[in-house]
Amino acid sequence: MNVTKSIGIFDSGYGGLTVFKSIAERLPDYNYIYMGDNARSPYGDHSFETVYQYTLECVEWLFAQGCPLVILACNTASAKALRTIQQKVLPFKYPDHRVLGVIRPTAEVIGNYTETNTIGVMGTRGTVNSESYPIEISHFFPELEVFQQSCPLWVPLIENNEHINPGADYFVQKYVDALLTKSAAIDTILLACTHYPLLVPKLSKVLPEGFKLVAQGDIVASSLADYLDRHPEMESRLGKENRKQFFTSGDEQVFNQNASIFFDAHVVSARVRW
Ligand code: DGL
Repeated sequence: MNVTKSIGIFDSGYGGLTVFKSIAERLPDYNYIYMGDNARSPYGDHSFETVYQYTLECVEWLFAQGCPLVILACNTASAKALRTIQQKVLPFKYPDHRVLGVIRPTAEVIGNYTETNTIGVMGTRGTVNSESYPIEISHFFPELEVFQQSCPLWVPLIENNEHINPGADYFVQKYVDALLTKSAAIDTILLACTHYPLLVPKLSKVLPEGFKLVAQGDIVASSLADYLDRHPEMESRLGKENRKQFFTSGDEQVFNQNASIFFDAHVVSARVRW
C-alpha cells in the first residue's frame, strides 16, 4: 500500500471547503489535498470549454500530487466538465484514476426531502443552464417537479465576504422571490452550489416557515463513504494518516483568511506552482 496517496478535492474557489468539511468529519482518517482555483474563480459564467479546460488542469495537477481519486466539489465543474473528463480523458490517459462529482449523489436523494414533490434548485448560471439537475433527477425521481433559479451574484458576494452584511439581503431576497414565483408548491430548496451554505442564516430568515434547505456536504460525504466501501481496489491505495493539505492558485494569505470561514477551522495553504 502506498501511504502517501490522497483524496483530491477541487473547487473553483472556497465553496468546496463546505463539502470537504463534511467529508473530513465523516471519513477522518484519510489524507486529503484541497485545491481551490481562486485565481480564475468564479467559474459560474464561464463557457463550457473554459470550465472544462480549467477543471481538467486542476484535476491533472491533483493527479500529479498523488491523488488517484478526485472529487469535484463544485457543481459548475461537475455540470460542465465531469462527463467529458470521465469519458474522454480518464480511459485513455489515466485508466486507474477516478473523478467523481456532486450532482449525481445529490440527484439520487433529493426526492426524499420533499412532501409536495416539487423542489427548487438554486445554482450558478453555468449549473442551471446546463440542465444537469432536472435531467439527472428525472432518472431517480421521474415524478418530481424541478424549478431552477440562477443566482449569479451570490458567489461574488460570498467570495468577498459580503454575504454577512446587510447589502447582501437584497440579492438573497431577489433570487428567492424569483424562484418562489415559479411555483407555489415548492417546499424544498437545493443549494446546488457549494458556496451557498454560507447564506443559510440569511435564507432561513426570508423563507416561509417549514421550508427545507438542502446543502450538499453530508450527501456527498455519505456517497463517498459508500463509494469507498464498494471499491476496495481504490480504497486500499489511499493513505490514512489524517493529513490535510490546502492549495490555491491565488494568494495564500487571502485564501487562509477566507478558507477558515468556509472550513470552520484554521487553514494554512500553499500556492499552486503549475
Ligand atoms: N462552488 C461552485 C459550485 O458549486 C461554484 C462557483 C463558481 O465558481 O461560480 O458551483
